[in-house]
Amino acid sequence: MSVPLLNASGCLDALTAPEVATTLDAFVTKTVTPLPREGNPPPRIAETGGWMLNSIGLQNPGIEIFSTNVLPRLVELEVPIWVSAGGFSASDYRNCCERLDALDAVAVIELNLSCPNVDEAPETAVELVRASRDATSKPLYVKLSPATPDIAELARAVADVGADGLSLVNTLRGLALDAGTARPRLALGRGGASGPALRPIALACVHACANAVELPIVGIGGVVSGTDVMDFISVGASAVALGTVLFADPFSPARIRGELEQEPRFRGYGSVASIGGLGRASAFTAGS
Ligand SMILES: Cc1cc2nc3c(=O)[nH]c(=O)nc-3n(C[C@H](O)[C@H](O)[C@H](O)COP(=O)(O)O)c2cc1C
Repeated sequence: MSVPLLNASGCLDALTAPEVATTLDAFVTKTVTPLPREGNPPPRIAETGGWMLNSIGLQNPGIEIFSTNVLPRLVELEVPIWVSAGGFSASDYRNCCERLDALDAVAVIELNLSCPNVDEAPETAVELVRASRDATSKPLYVKLSPATPDIAELARAVADVGADGLSLVNTLRGLALDAGTARPRLALGRGGASGPALRPIALACVHACANAVELPIVGIGGVVSGTDVMDFISVGASAVALGTVLFADPFSPARIRGELEQEPRFRGYGSVASIGGLGRASAFTAGS
């Protein structure tokens, strides 16, 4: 039995580390937006306590260059490709999904609903998912913020408008100050907080949503070990994505697979589905 392992969006560059990407069950791209984005000025990464703060600013080449220059190179890795799509309005999400819908190489579209300047109100999230659903028949995973007031209710709402799966969770908003100057350590002040400290929050989100909807869930947040992966599976995830850990330990997917073999919770279970998650395999099939 094996647990599908992915990278979390924005945490692995498959073209510079193909030897890592090819050990995953699917590769998730950094969020792509309709137009190119240069990203935020540095410093845009800081470590603080059990957290990492980032403010990359959705740096990406835009959907046009992504489709023509980046995606064909990713296809050569022969790993199913999940494309993370984002934007600043419903029409941006629709635009991305329309473009991605036409590309055979795209196995799954993951909607990043935590984009800068995007109102994270549940009504907005539902509107963005509806616009995306209208634009594509590809499997559509919706990535939610752990700051959502009632995440189970939002999970039900996005399921009702056609989401095929959930990716739980994105970063939490955080701020770290320089002890000497009391100035923010990131150029733009606040950033997204990720890493081990996020794990209990992410586990609670997966648990709540797994009890609310019958959708497959990718568990994301602070995973560093095989035990952490099993925790996510135990509360209802059917796959797990590795994020911040990839910066410290790029070969963590292979290490974690080894640790999973030793996990006592593997014993006595025939499949991921029997532990908790739904174990839907279709989203891990490479595009033709
Ligand atoms: C440097 C960095 C860049 C990220 N970029 C994206 C992104 O482009 N799109 C997205 O949906 N999430 C992005 N994330 C969030 C991760 O995909 C993940 O949801 C989050 O980091 C929590 O997982 P972790 O604690 O294992 O890192 C980024 C995270 C980091 C650390």
